[in-house]
Amino acid sequence: MGSRRFESRSRRELHREQLVSPLPELGLVASGGPNDPDPEIVLEDGVVVQMDGRSAADFDVIDRFVVAHGLDLDVAAEAMALGDAELARMLVDISVPRAELVRLARGLTPAKLARVIGLLDPVELMLALKKLRARRAPANQAHVTNLKESPALLAADAAEAARRGFAEIETTVGVARYAPLNAIALLVGSQTGRPGVMTQCAVEERRNLELAIRGLVTYAETLSVYGTEPVFVDGDDTPWSKAFLGAAYASRGVKVRFTSGTGSEALMGYAQGLSMLYLEARCLAAVRAAGSQGVQNGSISCVALVLSVPGGTRAILGENVLAAWLDLEVASGNDAIASHSEIRKTAKLMGQFLPGTDFVTSGYSVMPRHDNTFGGGNFDADDIDEWLTVQRDWQVDAGIEPVSEEEVLRVRERAARAIQAVFGELGLPPVTDEEVEAATTGYDSAGMPDRDRAADVEAADELLARGTSGLDIALVLERRGFGEVAEAVLSMQRQRISADYLQTAAVIDTYGLVHSAVNDPNLYTGPGTGYRLEGDRWALLQALPNVVDPAELLGAELDAEPVVVEQREAARSDDAAEVVVAVGPAFADTIRRTIGDLGHREVLEAICDGVREGGAAPRIVRIRRVADVAFIAHDGAQLSGSGIALGIQSKGTAVIHRADLEPLDNLELFGMSPLYTLASYRAMGRNAAGYALGHRVGPVPTELDNFARAKLIVRTTLLHARETQAVRPGAAAVELELAVAIASG
Ligand code: 5AD
Ligand code: CA
Repeated sequence: MGSRRFESRSRRELHREQLVSPLPELGLVASGGPNDPDPEIVLEDGVVVQMDGRSAADFDVIDRFVVAHGLDLDVAAEAMALGDAELARMLVDISVPRAELVRLARGLTPAKLARVIGLLDPVELMLALKKLRARRAPANQAHVTNLKESPALLAADAAEAARRGFAEIETTVGVARYAPLNAIALLVGSQTGRPGVMTQCAVEERRNLELAIRGLVTYAETLSVYGTEPVFVDGDDTPWSKAFLGAAYASRGVKVRFTSGTGSEALMGYAQGLSMLYLEARCLAAVRAAGSQGVQNGSISCVALVLSVPGGTRAILGENVLAAWLDLEVASGNDAIASHSEIRKTAKLMGQFLPGTDFVTSGYSVMPRHDNTFGGGNFDADDIDEWLTVQRDWQVDAGIEPVSEEEVLRVRERAARAIQAVFGELGLPPVTDEEVEAATTGYDSAGMPDRDRAADVEAADELLARGTSGLDIALVLERRGFGEVAEAVLSMQRQRISADYLQTAAVIDTYGLVHSAVNDPNLYTGPGTGYRLEGDRWALLQALPNVVDPAELLGAELDAEPVVVEQREAARSDDAAEVVVAVGPAFADTIRRTIGDLGHREVLEAICDGVREGGAAPRIVRIRRVADVAFIAHDGAQLSGSGIALGIQSKGTAVIHRADLEPLDNLELFGMSPLYTLASYRAMGRNAAGYALGHRVGPVPTELDNFARAKLIVRTTLLHARETQAVRPGAAAVELELAVAIASG
């Protein structure tokens, strides 16, 4: 028979996915594959005749492109002469400036780049990434889509994403013809949430470029490159065609980044026996050579495949570092679902989250996962509070801001109203009030009224034919009373003309100012330098809507009516049938209820009833000199005629003690105070009586709540602080009597 524990583990989410051992022939090896070439470059008369195991005659299309446009031959000899370990150390050496590393990278071949990165362990990779990131401050990108392609919901989600601080928002289409409608919904929604947010609608390149030229979107990251020639050719492309396309976008004032990432060549069947990281180094060399300012990498859609092989997570972080080393802006993945396991997903995320990247995710799903038509989000609407909390835990800025529910509802509604106005004014199928309402407060597209989809796609075709532009959108917004949104949409048209945001790693702030590696570079050179989460930004990222002021949490609950009355100083009695009930310094005084929310009067009555039921006589005393429950009980036992006492702290933790035991020993300890009922306290009283009278006593059955500590530790701390504030060192115990309860109507 097998192990029940193995069986239990096999049912965990993690085990839905397949782990495999390396199979280099198929490219199923993360880095350092046995067939990866040794790095080399041979120059003759200033011409590359040999690179990474291939002579010029055997160069494939990627080699030729990289040699022709990427490698800086003035640096190559110097850079390639450096040892692998020496370069690896420079990557983590805070005294070697980023600019120097970038200069050297231009002279390194793909095999050399991959080999050096392969020498870094995960923490070294994180340090290198922190140092090499292009822009000073990290940012984040959002995905906004829904299964119904509802324009009101797209606009509302885009507005929320923008308001939460995402610098870029990406949408796509389920049905290609929706492209202009989705692009407009995203544009209007984003500019309602926060002026300056850049948007894209990922569709087929011709349409993509057309939307951009019309000013309906501002960036594109649809340009995929691959590390082997057959995959490139299968995609109907060459590095030259991609470079041309990239230039086409940029020449129209559209921010472009390419997309690549480990695993794609293996997935597409032509890895040529090479490791994922080495092939990604070839991709990145090509991206650099194509003149792109940046790249979306980190495996992207292939992440689950890379995570199936050993060292996959490390290789993915390695490819992000490699891109940054090549001076590329990095949108670092964490968008497609990496794993079924929340633990594994989060562990993977930390590689980018902690050092910070230009875009920590290249698409955080702002809506619930199933509405993400990119194939489901790795992190989605339901994870936002966790993301915010982890930022707060680490004091790390990963690009998402807390926003109150009221404010979220406000911007969502405003955006849905704005798109309603735009659709109305452009003569598109109307967005109804019901749609606005559902988009404002609803959970997902399932709650959205159905639209006439045939009418929508027809209208979309017509809109394209009409040549509607971003300027038209601004004009109709202005006409319908959405002046500030119109101004923001117009401002994005201006941005496209001034095109400052074509600089590496550019994002646009609320005031229209571009922050890029040119005017806001990352100059990290060790502790105290570079981007630190502090000041106003840290205050903002701390202030989650669910954070409470601890002072408020314990708000004075003193009612006027006293529960106990202090009598004389307590003395030792010689009544052998007595049980002392010893309470803490604040009990029934500055604290009136246990952590389990039982009133102290009721608790005392239950204990005393229990003692009497057990045949003994209760005597209540207050211990004033200590707040520790062991000493409260032990002090009580010293006073007790039977030598038995039940000690109880104000929060409800109790101990049955005997005078001859060491203070930190006991007869029974009741540490699960949140779980106790009055019946529990009565049972404790009965047991104490049993000990006093020398009966055989079975311990009071107790329950365990393993989460009680995590849940209640703050309240415990605050209650205990109040208890210790009531301590009077050296003060003798006093007898207490229950005050006569004033009957309340
Ligand atoms: N390499 C290249 N392109 C990729 N994409 C996703 N992952 C990769 C990768 N590892 C591109 C593909 C895909 C889109 C989401 O991004 O074009 O369809
Ligand atoms: Ca993206």
